[in-house]
Amino acid sequence: MISEHLWFPYAQMQTMPPPLRVKSANGVMLKLENGQELIDSISSWWCAIHGYNHPEINAALTEQMQKFSHVMLGGLTHEPAENLAKELVRLTGLGHVFFADSGSVGVEVAMKMAVQFWKNQGVKDKHKFACLLKGYHGDTTGAMSLGDPEEGMHHLFKGYLPEQFFIEPSLQKMENLFKEHSAEIAAFACEPLLQGAGGFNFYPAEFLSGARELCDKYNVLLIADEVATGFGRTGTMFACEQAGVIPDIMVLGKGLTAGYLGLSATLATDKVYNSFLGNAYEKAFMHGPTFMGNALACSVALASIKIFERENYLQKIARINEILKEEFLGFEASGVKETRVFGACGVIETETEEVHKGIQEFAVARGVWLRPFLRVVYTMPPYIISEKELRKVCGVMKEFFKKFLH
Ligand SMILES: Cc1ncc(COP(=O)(O)O)c(C=O)c1O
Repeated sequence: MISEHLWFPYAQMQTMPPPLRVKSANGVMLKLENGQELIDSISSWWCAIHGYNHPEINAALTEQMQKFSHVMLGGLTHEPAENLAKELVRLTGLGHVFFADSGSVGVEVAMKMAVQFWKNQGVKDKHKFACLLKGYHGDTTGAMSLGDPEEGMHHLFKGYLPEQFFIEPSLQKMENLFKEHSAEIAAFACEPLLQGAGGFNFYPAEFLSGARELCDKYNVLLIADEVATGFGRTGTMFACEQAGVIPDIMVLGKGLTAGYLGLSATLATDKVYNSFLGNAYEKAFMHGPTFMGNALACSVALASIKIFERENYLQKIARINEILKEEFLGFEASGVKETRVFGACGVIETETEEVHKGIQEFAVARGVWLRPFLRVVYTMPPYIISEKELRKVCGVMKEFFKKFLH
């Protein structure tokens, strides 16, 4: 039975099958009210990097809760927010951290930062963005405008969304665009190397490093949206590292708080930050969400980073990558267009959406939670997944295609 009051995401409420009711979750397992247990192969939309119910993160949360849960960051400050900012600066090499409460809002913050950066220097009319086709940056208005105009929900909101410039990951196309329009472009915004919700497409590090050079040459800022890629998903702490690129602005979310609470961090270089300094109030950054720097979320993020580093998660991710490659690369079945693997992300792309219809029910019946979309069936497991559990996830995904389509 679906609650008649609860409105679900990306779902036609009239025809949606009843969602599964979760009673508890532990490690990689979701425990349902009907007694069934499922391996969460997609880390609750890629955020539960340590799985569920981690004792050390739970302890950090309750310890902070007993002191205070939240205070406004306007005029007040506190240790968890300050310490987390310090940690993120250490990890990214960027100097300044602005917190918000979700990835989408973090992206909005990045966009406003880029636009105001130019205004603060008296450069007029730079308020458009260059973006990649097949990209996705969130569901708020500005973030949506950066996403692929064909694949997503753009067409529904045509006329409402700001219009941006879109290119394929091609340096020639980028240079052509910049030659003509750089006077209007505040920043190039991208998901570095791995484009997630636009269909799990990967592009080479050389494009990103070349894009960095072109951005510098044509006076365009570079925004790296690492909401999905940050915290190890592509095999390094941040995807930008693989291209040797330091963005002007970076957005983190999802794995930042290990799936416990909403929090994002928009980081900026000294160059960007310094443009907001001066005596005039109008030069200050004009943004301030109520829950920015929430103390519970910051404490969770600090505990998560500590575990990530102490337990050498990058090594775990490298092992996940090996297993995913063994399982998926070379896999063929009718209706399957391609398989691809990047970091801790394994993808089966089908010829049409119709081809994978029914795979969710098939996987649930075998103890695995999947949520395919567009033409992709994928896994982005919690990094604590065991080899046995991961092979089971991959096996179930492949079995569906073998069973029904051969
Ligand atoms: C790259 C990227 N940016 C931004 C977002 C939006 O994050 P949130 O859902 O926390 O608003 C997402 C979410 O999937 C994402 O993948």
